[in-house]
Order: sequence, then structure tokens, then C-alpha cells
Amino acid sequence: MNLLHGDCLKVLPKLDAGSVDLVVTSPPYNLGINYKSFKDTAPREEFLQWCHAWASEVKRVMADDASFFLNVGAAPANPLMPHQLILALTDGADPLFNLQNTFHWIKSITIETVGGEQISAGHFKPINSKRYVNDCHEYVFHLTKTGNIELDRRAAGVPYVYKSNIARWGIAAFTGIELDAHYLETARLRLEEEHDRQSGQLF
Ligand SMILES: C[S@@+](CC[C@H](N)C(=O)[O-])C[C@H]1O[C@@H](n2cnc3c(N)ncnc32)[C@H](O)[C@@H]1O
Repeated sequence: MNLLHGDCLKVLPKLDAGSVDLVVTSPPYNLGINYKSFKDTAPREEFLQWCHAWASEVKRVMADDASFFLNVGAAPANPLMPHQLILALTDGADPLFNLQNTFHWIKSITIETVGGEQISAGHFKPINSKRYVNDCHEYVFHLTKTGNIELDRRAAGVPYVYKSNIARWGIAAFTGIELDAHYLETARLRLEEEHDRQSGQLF
């Protein structure tokens, strides 16, 4: 596990081209969120150009058959950002990526079972306006260089049911990049906790 403290625009160029098989990121959403070290209030065009800059570096470090999972959320009053971002990365004369899959991350949900029982799960954000119905989902865009990368479709979701399968992921090496030292430390602690938990279960 290699957690690096710094600006991804400075750290990514130090990684070898084509050296990464899987990229997962959840960048700031440009929704005015109060992060410790990052001003989340750029004009939209500037934000999209910044995303294009780091996404170009992401593409450079990706192997040809690598996958890039990009998590972005919106807000009811600011619903277009995920769509503007995905267009900025996949559209135009020289697109960076192909959009291969779109996942909807439902962060809170109430469903009725076949037996008629109502089940609620997740964190429900309060809505302060009569204009909106909910604020309960985000996107995970799956981007690839060709749009034609084979996936292990049946692996999706499996670890939640059969945690022992985590051992089969066989992740060789992991690098994380975070601008803020406090958030980096939180990530390190969580990863260590998770590692200890899995080690306890698996071995
Ligand atoms: C939307 S948060 C995501 C946090 C984390 N992915 C999660 O889901 O809890 C965005 C993170 O990006 C970090 N960040 C902002 N600009 C960055 C940069 N240039 N390089 C590296 N990290 C950055 C922020 O400090 C913040 O922790």
C-alpha cells in the first residue's frame, strides 16, 4: 500500500506510463463542498479543464486494457456536473476515453420486499426545497481507452455476500494520492482497519 501526499497533477507524472491496471477516483464535485485543502468553487469551465488535465495523466499511466472508475455526485440544484464532466472526457475532436459502463450508486433506498415488508438502507439526505424529490444517488462512470475491455461481470457485488472472495482479487500493488494530509491519514487508518479485519477473517 503506497499512500502519497500531494497534488495528483504533480504526483501522477512521476508514475510510469502504462503501469496501472485500475484507477478509481472520487474527485471534488465542484459543488462548493467545504474540503480542508481544496477550494471547491471554481467556475465550471475551469473545473472541467482541471479534470481534463488530471484525467489526461490518468490515461497516460493506464495500461491499454486498464479500467478507470470515476465516481461523481451531483446536487439537486446542480444536476449537470456529472454529465458535463463525462462529455468533457469522452466527447469532442480528441476524446480521452470511451464510456464503457455507467453505474448508479444508490446511496439510500426504501424498497418493499415480495413479502410486503418495507426495508430502508443507507443515509437519507434531508431535502430543504419543495422542488426536489431526493438526493440519494451518485454516478460511477467506467472509462476505458477503447470501450472494448473485457470485465469479470459476475464478480460485481460478490464480496458483500462472500467476503472470502476478496482474497481472490489478487491486487498486486496499490497507490493512493491525496492532497490533504488529514484525509490521507484517515484513508491510511481505514485501509489498515480493513486489512486487519480481512486478515482476521481469511487467515
Ligand atoms: C470528493 S472528495 C473524495 C473523498 C474520498 N474519495 C471519499 O469518497 O471519501 C475529493 C478529495 O480529493 C482531494 N483532492 C482535491 N484536489 C486534489 C488534488 N489536486 N490532488 C489530490 N487530491 C485532491 C480532496 O482533498 C478530497 O479529499
